[in-house]
Amino acid sequence: MSTERKQAVPAFIDLAAQREKLGDSVERAIAKVLNHGQFVLGPEVAELEDRLASFCGARHCVSCANGTDALLLALMAEGVGPGDAVFVPAFTFVATVEVAVLSGATPVFVDVCPDTFNLDVESLEAAIGEAKKRGLKPRCVIPVDLYGQPADYGAINRIAGKHGLLVVGDAAQSFGAGLEGKKVGTLATYTATSFYPSKPLGGYGDGGAVFTDGDDRAARLRALRNHGKGPGRSDTEYLGLNSRLDSIQAAILLEKLRLFPAEIPARQECADRYNAGLAAVAKVPELMAGATSVWAQYTIVTEDRDALAKVCREAGVPTAIHYASALNCLPPYLETLKPPAGLGNAEWLAARVISLPMHPYLTTEAQDRIVATVRQALTSAKAGVADAAE
Ligand SMILES: Cc1ncc(COP(=O)(O)O)c(C=O)c1O
Repeated sequence: MSTERKQAVPAFIDLAAQREKLGDSVERAIAKVLNHGQFVLGPEVAELEDRLASFCGARHCVSCANGTDALLLALMAEGVGPGDAVFVPAFTFVATVEVAVLSGATPVFVDVCPDTFNLDVESLEAAIGEAKKRGLKPRCVIPVDLYGQPADYGAINRIAGKHGLLVVGDAAQSFGAGLEGKKVGTLATYTATSFYPSKPLGGYGDGGAVFTDGDDRAARLRALRNHGKGPGRSDTEYLGLNSRLDSIQAAILLEKLRLFPAEIPARQECADRYNAGLAAVAKVPELMAGATSVWAQYTIVTEDRDALAKVCREAGVPTAIHYASALNCLPPYLETLKPPAGLGNAEWLAARVISLPMHPYLTTEAQDRIVATVRQALTSAKAGVADAAE
């Protein structure tokens, strides 16, 4: 594809542009693994874990097969199970609630804030009260760093301390972000992330990791991801999973990690340009004071989502909806517990959010074109509504 064509039709996430930047380094890294032959949990996996832990300042990084397992492994490491309530936001990717169910615990939904898209702490307090009323033991909260911005860990950790809750951060979308000078990976007792290809730090396949400062916790995670085998022994100590990371995936991620520090500010510049161009026509994303985002998604809120999606489609600007349904409205979760005030913000957002192309290789020309398309679409949609009202 020529550069001209690429700019005329921006990609939603341009992995090809990143691939070009990587040159043949990925091929060389893969060839190294093919030659040494340690395909699972090989030397690249250990190196990746070291580098990721130093990148974010966590004491340990334990890699695994994907971000869903990363969450599940953290719950398994703490023995979360039947009779326990696990609090999860109702507006997130479905994996966050899946793991609560898979652990044997009872999920309880919590509403989110309409401005940051992240867990609302007042709703969390109400959900804890509801769980107690139902005879459940409030055990764990899984705050999600939606679209790349950390949740309000200061407030969440305080509430968790008060009620004796474990905090497992779902940082599938936020690795590389930070809060008040601390990086994601160090904001909760456990932090789980995903290396799915479209994530800010994504591989060429599935992958995930758990970060923790606890030595015993890390040892347990290492055993659990490998069928519950104790360190350096073949004995099975725990009920575990097969959730090991492939050496080829680790080798790819090590190459991508070299580009990552420069990609984060490039995403921020794109978000700044979008914010400046779109604040007058839509509700643009807000960062909490002290928070940085890695902008896994750039997502606006508008009453005219369908009209906007149509105009963008016709203009060759890809859009996506993350997520079209609050989790409590999905068939497996219709009966899931929720706080007495409900999940109004999650449902409101699900009907109004729309994500625009976001990646570090989006040219300023393409960004300007996207802004102009969105502005024009939302201005005409509003004019149409005004005309109809006259
Ligand atoms: C918020 C959130 N949690 C968990 C996951 C699960 O990660 P994975 O797809 O690697 O299992 C994702 C991935 O899409 C996610 O966005």
